[in-house]
Amino acid sequence: MSRLLTEDRLQPVAPELATAPVIPAYLEHHYWWAYVHPRAVHVFERDWLVNLILFGNYRRLRDRAMMALGSPLAGSTLQVACVYGNLTPRLIQRLEPDAKLCVVDILPVQLGNLSRKIPDDARVTLVQGDSSALTDSDASHDQVLLFFLLHEQPENTRRATLREALRVVKPGGRVVIVDYHRPHRWHPLRPLMKWIFARLEPFAHDLWEHPLDDYLPADITCQRIQRSTWFGGLYQLLVLER
Ligand SMILES: C[S@@+](CC[C@H](N)C(=O)[O-])C[C@H]1O[C@@H](n2cnc3c(N)ncnc32)[C@H](O)[C@@H]1O
Repeated sequence: MSRLLTEDRLQPVAPELATAPVIPAYLEHHYWWAYVHPRAVHVFERDWLVNLILFGNYRRLRDRAMMALGSPLAGSTLQVACVYGNLTPRLIQRLEPDAKLCVVDILPVQLGNLSRKIPDDARVTLVQGDSSALTDSDASHDQVLLFFLLHEQPENTRRATLREALRVVKPGGRVVIVDYHRPHRWHPLRPLMKWIFARLEPFAHDLWEHPLDDYLPADITCQRIQRSTWFGGLYQLLVLER
């Protein structure tokens, strides 16, 4: 069940929508330090730190995602999961006057953080919900964005998230994914990333072992899939056209 965040940003708009979704075990167990702990936001919500974690590629990754979504941003866009940094404020700047942006995230602390980063804007809605069980209707968005979410999810959740993203996007619309990818054999950061994944990001190595296509639902077809990688293959962009 999702919860809309209104003007004072954390109040459910209707009592019947007040049941919060369950926080997934993988977030509590493996990512408490990054997202769940109330102090996580104070540590990680720094542009320079986000850029450092991405080895100086933050702007490029953010801009590639925005270009793939379209500029200006028309119709209805769903951003699945909040992100540290200024991606969402930048998306809002690109919204056409009658366009809409909805950001869904499972954690109120992350939605609260996002609400402090963005201006009051009637075109923007923040919703508490689970990426693997969205409450949006079929074909209700023109674009869906998954920015560095899938590598944090166990396989079943990753599959469900992709299925949901494809379900809620309109025919002709697109799902834009930016995430990790297997780097080239002699990439100098390969050992470091392997070490980080082994200690902190237990599901991320899947994206080195498998193309994202392996997690797409077999019964939902895409008209076209565009793929690109960069920074020695460490990052990938996938655009799924419905
Ligand atoms: C998008 S991911 C990674 C973002 C990346 N590290 C960054 O900040 O640029 C982090 C967000 O995903 C959210 N998240 C993780 N699993 C989720 C799920 N099943 N449903 C909705 N949000 C989820 C977390 O609450 C967190 O806010």
